[in-house]
Amino acid sequence: MKIKNYEGKSVFLTGGSEGIGLALAQAFAKEGAHVVLFSRSEDKLKKAVAATEKVKKNTAQRIGSYKLDVTNEASVKKVLGDAVREYGVPDVFVNNAGRSLPNYFEQISSSQMEEIMRVNLYGIWYILSAILPQMKAKGGYVVNTSSMSGFMGVFGYADYTASKFAVIGLTEVLRSEYLKHNITFSVLCPSDIDTPGFKEENKHKPPETMAATGNAKLMRPEAVARACLKGMKKGKFVIIPGGTPKIGYFIKRHWPGLLMSMFDGDIKKAQKKMAKGI
Ligand SMILES: NC(=O)c1ccc[n+]([C@@H]2O[C@H](COP(=O)([O-])OP(=O)(O)OC[C@H]3O[C@@H](n4cnc5c(N)ncnc54)[C@H](OP(=O)(O)O)[C@@H]3O)[C@@H](O)[C@H]2O)c1
Repeated sequence: MKIKNYEGKSVFLTGGSEGIGLALAQAFAKEGAHVVLFSRSEDKLKKAVAATEKVKKNTAQRIGSYKLDVTNEASVKKVLGDAVREYGVPDVFVNNAGRSLPNYFEQISSSQMEEIMRVNLYGIWYILSAILPQMKAKGGYVVNTSSMSGFMGVFGYADYTASKFAVIGLTEVLRSEYLKHNITFSVLCPSDIDTPGFKEENKHKPPETMAATGNAKLMRPEAVARACLKGMKKGKFVIIPGGTPKIGYFIKRHWPGLLMSMFDGDIKKAQKKMAKGI
């Protein structure tokens, strides 16, 4: 279902308390939607609800929030049940909660890998298992946040990249299975975005990753939100915010070897410098 007008529609959004999620919440609110946020910290949620209230289009819009850890399947079922009773079945569900902690493959413990998978992939699985059977009756729209790392392997992101590739695969299957129920699916694939999560991520990047990606221009989360809503209005499956990342996606699809050589060049340069102690 392509949604041209969000007035009176309801949007549920995980990871909506800061970063890209908060920017998305505000963008939907500006367009007249009721918005319900889900994340773990009640403090951050309170501030996010207040910030979203400020920009909503009309007074009838409801902005709400629920404390939820998407990695806990039992909580997901319970909390979504509560939210649906209060706000009805959503027209739009955005799975945005996500996490990354870059490091060399051999430094990533199995428990870290499992944690990243639980947040980035299983969380989406739990949420959609609970909500899609209900959304089927009226149709709707689901956005799953992947990443540019959802279609290209980036040095230092073994666990994260595996989770984000999986998000695209899962979404492609669901797109096909729920076509007859009038539910449209998109994957949102941002590049480097100026968010609290990204700032934290930068503290852990191996030097090669910094060398290959550190000079990329950071986008604002608000620009990602604008691109997402624009892509949703067209019902695009892959939504890539920003011109340069779109070129990266084009090269990856048509000349995958070229993109790998470009990355390899940056990584080799960084490793030479590291070997010389520069
Ligand atoms: N920033 C980038 O450069 C970038 C690039 C590509 C893709 N992405 C993806 O975009 C999404 C948002 O990224 P961001 O940079 O905006 O992240 P962020 O600044 O770290 O914000 C993450 C949000 O997710 C929530 N969250 C984290 N773990 C959660 C959990 N287990 N259950 C429920 N909520 C949880 C956080 O709130 P609490 O901590 O209170 O739970 C917060 O609201 C992620 O999926 C990320 O992988 C980001």
